[in-house]
Amino acid sequence: MRIRSRFVAGMLLTLIVCFMSFTLCWAEGENKDTPRIGIISAMDNEISLLLDSAEEEEVVTIGGVDYHVGTLCGQDVVICKSGIGKVLGAAGVTAMLNNFDITEVLFTGIAGGVGDKTHVLDMVIATDLVQHDFGEIHADGFKWTKGYVGDGYYPCSEELVDQAYSAAVSIIGEDHVFKGTIATGDQFVASEEYVNWLQDKFDAIACEMEGAAIALVCMQYDTPFVVIRAMSDKADGLANKTYNDMGDRAAELSSSIIMKMLGDTPSA
Ligand code: ADE
Repeated sequence: MRIRSRFVAGMLLTLIVCFMSFTLCWAEGENKDTPRIGIISAMDNEISLLLDSAEEEEVVTIGGVDYHVGTLCGQDVVICKSGIGKVLGAAGVTAMLNNFDITEVLFTGIAGGVGDKTHVLDMVIATDLVQHDFGEIHADGFKWTKGYVGDGYYPCSEELVDQAYSAAVSIIGEDHVFKGTIATGDQFVASEEYVNWLQDKFDAIACEMEGAAIALVCMQYDTPFVVIRAMSDKADGLANKTYNDMGDRAAELSSSIIMKMLGDTPSA
């Protein structure tokens, strides 16, 4: 009799465990199979407004990065902070594309303005991105090369550029929103000479540290993308101070434009 009730209890326990793991797997699978907009940034201040505004369903941690799965402005999204620089940007977006059903990637954050056109707290919507630090070192210095994909300039989705531009204009007005090339490298640029070179060499209007890496991975995965950046500084000799003073405001501005974009996009 005792053996029989132990057997029944054992069977019941096994059934409960099976049911729980099935439910967990199903819920996780459901989230992974839902088409979602991927939103990436490099730093906490660039995603905090988005996370505060989102309805989070679960957090999936992959490679040390938290992927926040849920809805934002009525859209199914995954939001993550990849970390700073091209390596972490590429790793973050790759894990996102491998683990979720991502329809498009939106990168939001801050950048240094290049040239006279943009001012601090203006927005730049990238039409294309280039790695300004990709090249060869010779005895007479650095020589930029286009790398191994296309002409070295990675184009954003025209549709997403238009959506981002309209959203930005509706928030800060067209005098403060610019479309153009963003130059990416693993350096915080705080040099008048270097920022002038970025303008002359690439016709860039902003510089930052992740965009071209995200762009290149999205191209490999055939996933539409756009990079939007609010100017926190001018990448010149005063860049460190301006960045410290204006970085948080610029980061929040860029996030608010992403939310405007999502709000204006019809849900699938
Ligand atoms: N992000 C914000 N400002 C920057 C700068 N001056 N250089 C590189 N990345 C930046």
